[in-house]
Amino acid sequence: MDKSLFSVLKDARVVAIVCNQWGDTGKGKIVNYLAKEWADVVARGNGGNNAGHTVVLNNEEVILHLIPCGIFNPDVYNIIGPGTVIDPFVLLEEINTLKNKGVKVDKLRVSGYASVITPLHIVADCYNKKIGTTGRGVGPAYRDRAGRNNIRINDLMNPDVLKERLSRLRDSYSFDPESLERISGHPAVGRFITQGKICLEAIIENLIEVGKEIGPFVCDASKEMYEFFKNGKRIVVEGAQGLLLGIEEGTYPYVTSSCCSALHVVAGAGLPANLGNDLKVFGVVKFPVMTRVGNGPMPTEIGTEANDRSYKEEQNYDLNGLKEKALSGDQNSLRVFLRLKGKEYGATTGRPRRIGWIDLVALRYAVRMNGPNIILTKIDCCPLPAINICDKYIYQGIGTWSNGKAYSQGGIIRNFPTDSYVLKNCIGSFEKRPWYKNSLRGIRDYEGFPQEVRNTLNEIEEKTGCNVVLISNGPNEEDIIVK
Ligand code: IMP
Repeated sequence: MDKSLFSVLKDARVVAIVCNQWGDTGKGKIVNYLAKEWADVVARGNGGNNAGHTVVLNNEEVILHLIPCGIFNPDVYNIIGPGTVIDPFVLLEEINTLKNKGVKVDKLRVSGYASVITPLHIVADCYNKKIGTTGRGVGPAYRDRAGRNNIRINDLMNPDVLKERLSRLRDSYSFDPESLERISGHPAVGRFITQGKICLEAIIENLIEVGKEIGPFVCDASKEMYEFFKNGKRIVVEGAQGLLLGIEEGTYPYVTSSCCSALHVVAGAGLPANLGNDLKVFGVVKFPVMTRVGNGPMPTEIGTEANDRSYKEEQNYDLNGLKEKALSGDQNSLRVFLRLKGKEYGATTGRPRRIGWIDLVALRYAVRMNGPNIILTKIDCCPLPAINICDKYIYQGIGTWSNGKAYSQGGIIRNFPTDSYVLKNCIGSFEKRPWYKNSLRGIRDYEGFPQEVRNTLNEIEEKTGCNVVLISNGPNEEDIIVK
């Protein structure tokens, strides 16, 4: 595997691993693998602690939301770049958790120019019900950054600047006492609310304290990244969320607040523009079942959200019974069956993920944006004799207009529209393909896949112009197959 992986990477010096769907495609495992076998540096360039990946360390699960997973390799530098938003309390907690588990953190670096998620942002995010955010304050922090009103990590080390800027930020918010009282038990912000009021002094005091602890990790990330690159270090950039959740590229307004395309996350990590052929991008695609968390259109969705329960509840369901019902056509049983098979529950929020069939319309768009190289993941999580693929949508709704194109009832759509008022009326048109009724897990080379599976993979390459490079066929690193 190592030799093959290196042959895939050829002489790339910067490898960007980004998600080509709505997040949660299993980037972490690929990045983890590269961090162990290939990289000198792992960097993040977008998002905040709305992301999350689980790593098993000495038989114990560790969930990291901010710190790149290169941290588990003591020789690898881990950079949190200027394009991110950082909740300093979460960062400190992660640093301490890692230290307590004996993980060395001396090669962690945090950009002083990254924006801060303050408790004010988390409070503001608590009231956002429309998008179904992770509630971590990410959107409000980016909004204040764009409004030139937020504080940055460097400000934590400059109490006078911090006080002035935070007071100004506070003045831009008006929280009503009743709502504040309602969230006074919130684990991250409750301690800053007293008698229906935000206690700014307590926030400032705590931020100064946390600043002292994270100060030693702060650096000029773009300078460091430039030096790494110039000195021939091998760099992995890990994108957070996914292309279809990008504020610029995704299904607006049902998106996160950072840009999620490969070029954006590479820039957000602090890397320069002249990477040329030294940059290789891999888009991660869950196949043949994809997911979405939070609200917003999903044209290939299976079943309805009315059926969603927490993992605690759903794990006790009878899988065989669900499968039987699914095979007889019950879409909600299929939804839950596939969710359980793929353990599709959020690492950050624990929310059950919405389930859908592979969407080639969206994949064509992602290939256009992030380039042709694709890593398929979770291919082992769909033990069914047949799958559905969606190569086009049928427009069903009131006529509308977007990007110079009119949409009308019954129209066929092959080019992904990111306007949610268009996409919500796009109904996936499915074609059945034979699959494999048992799990594919255990197959360790491409030739070992059943012919039907290989035919379908070839077909999606043809239909989208993608080039499947790696296939992840199970939870372990040995399950990563080179096509
Ligand atoms: P926010 O990023 O918390 O503002 O949430 C905005 C939207 O992005 C919501 O629909 C979230 O569920 C979704 N989202 C944010 N982070 C992730 C992620 O890491 N995986 C999947 N969805 C995410």
